[in-house]
Amino acid sequence: VDFLSSLQIVTHAVQMLRVILSGVSQGAAAAIKTYFNETAYLPCQFINSQNISLDELVVFWQNQEKLVVYELYQGKEKFDNVDPKYKNRNISFDEENWTLRLHNVEIKDQGDYQCFIHHKGPKGLVPSHKMFPPTKLLVIANFSQPEIMEGSNSSSKSYRNLTCSSIQGYPQPEEMYFLLTTENSTIKYSTTMQKSQDNITELYNVSISWSYSGFHDTTNRSIICVLCVSEMCLFSKPYDIAPVPPKTHPPPKDDILWITALSLVIVGVTVFFLVRWKRKKKQPDLSRECQ
Ligand SMILES: *[C@@H]1O[C@H](CO)[C@@H](O)[C@H](O)[C@H]1NC(C)=O
Ligand SMILES: *[C@@H]1O[C@H](CO)[C@@H](O)[C@H](O)[C@H]1NC(C)=O
Ligand SMILES: *[C@@H]1O[C@H](CO)[C@@H](O)[C@H](O)[C@H]1NC(C)=O
Ligand SMILES: *[C@@H]1O[C@H](CO)[C@@H](O)[C@H](O)[C@H]1NC(C)=O
Ligand SMILES: *[C@@H]1O[C@H](CO)[C@@H](O)[C@H](O)[C@H]1NC(C)=O
Ligand SMILES: *[C@@H]1O[C@H](CO)[C@@H](O)[C@H](O)[C@H]1NC(C)=O
Ligand SMILES: *[C@@H]1O[C@H](CO)[C@@H](O)[C@H](O)[C@H]1NC(C)=O
Ligand SMILES: *[C@@H]1O[C@H](CO)[C@@H](O)[C@H](O)[C@H]1NC(C)=O
Ligand SMILES: *[C@@H]1O[C@H](CO)[C@@H](O)[C@H](O)[C@H]1NC(C)=O
Repeated sequence: VDFLSSLQIVTHAVQMLRVILSGVSQGAAAAIKTYFNETAYLPCQFINSQNISLDELVVFWQNQEKLVVYELYQGKEKFDNVDPKYKNRNISFDEENWTLRLHNVEIKDQGDYQCFIHHKGPKGLVPSHKMFPPTKLLVIANFSQPEIMEGSNSSSKSYRNLTCSSIQGYPQPEEMYFLLTTENSTIKYSTTMQKSQDNITELYNVSISWSYSGFHDTTNRSIICVLCVSEMCLFSKPYDIAPVPPKTHPPPKDDILWITALSLVIVGVTVFFLVRWKRKKKQPDLSRECQ
C-alpha cells in the first residue's frame, strides 16, 4: 500500500510538473472551462498580505484586446472605462475570493483575461498587481444526444434515408458516423458531416445522412449513431430494424401448371386414403356385429 500510494504521489507530481511546464513553454494561461450560459470565475490571484481595503484600490479586468471588462473603483462599480460590449452583461465581483463572475457565458467570451490592481496613494494610482499569466477561458456546450430519424419521404423503395442529428454544441465535432451491427459484425459507416453554426450563439448543429438499403434483409440489425467531440463520444439510442419474414412469393406463371397438377395428385391421394381409412374403420364394427 505504501509503495502504491507513493507511486501515486510521484505520478501526480509528474502530471503537475507536466501541466506547469506545458504552461511555461507555451507562455500559456491557466485554462478555465465553463459551460455555455453558465458562470465563468476569473481569478485575480492577488494576495492581500497588507489587508488593504478595497476603498484604496482600483481593481479591473481586461480581455486579450485590452478592453476593460469590469472595474471596481474604490470599492464601487465604475462603468466609464468599461467597453460598451460588457456594459449590459451580467458581471459581478466576489469580494471573498477577488474573483470576477462572468454570468451567462457566451462562445464569444473565449479568450484571455487579466486582472490589474492599482493602489490609490497620496501621489495617485500606483500599479501594484498584474496577474500573469492571464486566465484563458474556454467555453463548451454539450451537444444533444444524437438522434436517428427516418426521412419522411424517400424517393426510392430500395433504400430509406436515415438522418442522425445533434444540436446546440461547441466546439465543432471531429467525427460523426453510423455503426451497423448485424448478427456477426459491426460496420462503421461515415459520410460527410453537415454543420450549421448559429450567427448569434455560435453553437453548431450537425447531421449525417445515409441511404440505407438493407430494410428487406431477413436478419436482425441495429444502427447506432456516434458523435465525437474533444475525444469524447456521444451515442444515439439504437435504431433497430426487425427482420423481414421471408415472403411466400406468388409463383411464376410457368409453374402454375405443375403446381395445379401436384395439388390434384395430393388431393387425389388424400381422398384415396381417406376412403380406405373409413372402410377400415367400419370393418371392425361389422365383425363385432357378426360375433
Ligand atoms: C441561459 O440561461 C438563462 C437562465 O439563466 C435562460 O433564461 C436562457 O434561456 C438561457 N439561454 C440560452 C441561450 O440557453
Ligand atoms: C482586515 O481589515 C478589516 C477592516 O478593514 C478587518 O475587519 C479585518 O479583521 C482585517 N483582517 C486581517 C486578517 O487583518
Ligand atoms: C469564493 O468564496 C466563497 C466563500 O468563501 C466560496 O463559497 C466559493 O466557493 C468561492 N468561489 C470560488 C470560485 O473559489
Ligand atoms: C456536459 O457533459 C459532461 C460529460 O457528459 C457532463 O459531465 C456535464 O455535466 C454536462 N454539462 C452540462 C451543462 O450539461
Ligand atoms: C417529398 O415529397 C414531395 C412530394 O411527394 C416532394 O415535393 C419533396 O421534394 C420530397 N422531399 C424530399 C426531401 O425528398
Ligand atoms: C436525406 O435526408 C436529409 C435530411 O432530410 C437530406 O438533407 C438528404 O438530402 C437526404 N438524402 C437523400 C439521399 O435523400
Ligand atoms: C453468422 O455466422 C453464422 C455462423 O458462422 C452463420 O451461420 C450465419 O449465416 C452468419 N450470418 C450472417 C448474416 O452472415
Ligand atoms: C439548430 O437546431 C435548433 C433546434 O432544431 C434550431 O432552432 C436552430 O435554428 C438550428 N440552428 C442552426 C444554425 O441550424
Ligand atoms: C431478432 O431478434 C429478436 C429479439 O432479439 C429475436 O427474438 C429473433 O429471433 C431475432 N430474429 C432473427 C432472425 O435473428
